[in-house]
Amino acid sequence: MAKKTIQDLDLKGKRAVFRVDFNVPLRGDEITDKTRILGALPTIRYVVEQGGTAILLSHLGRPKGEVNAKYSLAPVAKVLADELGQPVFFVPESRGPAAEKAVSELSPGSVALMENVRFHVGEEKNDLDLAQDFSKLGDVFINDAFGTAHRAHASTVGIAQFLKPAVAGLLIQRELEYLGDKTENAESPFVVILGGAKVSDKITVIDRLLDKADTILIGGAMAYTFALALGKTVGDSLSEPAFIDTAKAALKKAKEKGVKFLLPVDNVTVDSLDFDNMSVGNIGVSDVEGNIRDGWEGVDIGPQTVALYAGELANAKTILMNGPMGIFEIEACSKGSFAIAEAVAKNKEAISIIGGGDSVKAVNQAGFGGDVSFISTGGGASLEFLEGKALPGVEALDEK
Ligand code: 3PG
Repeated sequence: MAKKTIQDLDLKGKRAVFRVDFNVPLRGDEITDKTRILGALPTIRYVVEQGGTAILLSHLGRPKGEVNAKYSLAPVAKVLADELGQPVFFVPESRGPAAEKAVSELSPGSVALMENVRFHVGEEKNDLDLAQDFSKLGDVFINDAFGTAHRAHASTVGIAQFLKPAVAGLLIQRELEYLGDKTENAESPFVVILGGAKVSDKITVIDRLLDKADTILIGGAMAYTFALALGKTVGDSLSEPAFIDTAKAALKKAKEKGVKFLLPVDNVTVDSLDFDNMSVGNIGVSDVEGNIRDGWEGVDIGPQTVALYAGELANAKTILMNGPMGIFEIEACSKGSFAIAEAVAKNKEAISIIGGGDSVKAVNQAGFGGDVSFISTGGGASLEFLEGKALPGVEALDEK
């Protein structure tokens, strides 16, 4: 990679200020998905093994510049210690003399997690005084927070001005390799599965992947906007009538490029849905043409679509999945997403990349997280990177 990496450093006796993304989902004090913590372990272990000290900075949630116990990283420190198999010193501040004193007392090979950087109002504003204070915590800067690399904040971008060398950690390198190189130069057939709620959220990525993929499989609520573009009825399904022309343009481009662009041939439908209580009313299916009746909404791809998509996935050499096929959080609407996760996991010949956010949750919930080649820790960051945008957190690092 063009940027300096952790492998370019001699870390012995160095205090490494190390941005991670521990913005993990919490239920009370319980972490419900550890993907991001596990993703950071290799770089933390690398620093420790090289005789350095890891001083971790992260955000959690959106506390808007105010101290709020709900967003404290203290519970994360405990889980990190368990996963690492060594103590993690939790420092209840991330800037100032007390924080600097706490980290100066650490012996080489120690790991410390500082309190939420977003408790300071300057973090999201990329305030340079705050960035400079963060830089006083150590001797080198490592950015391994891929999930936050699309944000130009004090602890991701500003700090790299003050603390040099500023280098990429192992996780960021792997993310760029899989979401970047392995999809840029994908072995054919390259099959992309795109789901999620909105065409408007994914259109840039669809457009870009139409230049690279052999086959694109569409699921999730965005399929209903494509259905409208084909003149079908979608009942009460979530859709974006304002983006019908956008959907039509994507279908046209796919045809011109010879990309196989598949839409659901059947859908699971319900006549009512209560997301808060995770329940649905009556369950039905779309008609043979794929039309959905008034009063019903599509919530998942149907069994014929699963079979069609699984057939495409079985022959793929490269697979990229971004977005679930339905409302997988509710059991009655989860079969399609889980079956597609299984089809991805079953193809051991292919490089399979799960492109972040909800698709990661779906693959993990289906129990196939360990059977794919790579799971991205990025949500918005993965999407922006796949759209071809530069990531400020990576751009700010030193050139090789
Ligand atoms: C994420 O979860 O996508 C990252 O941690 C960034 O969080 P943010 O959207 O609150 O900036």
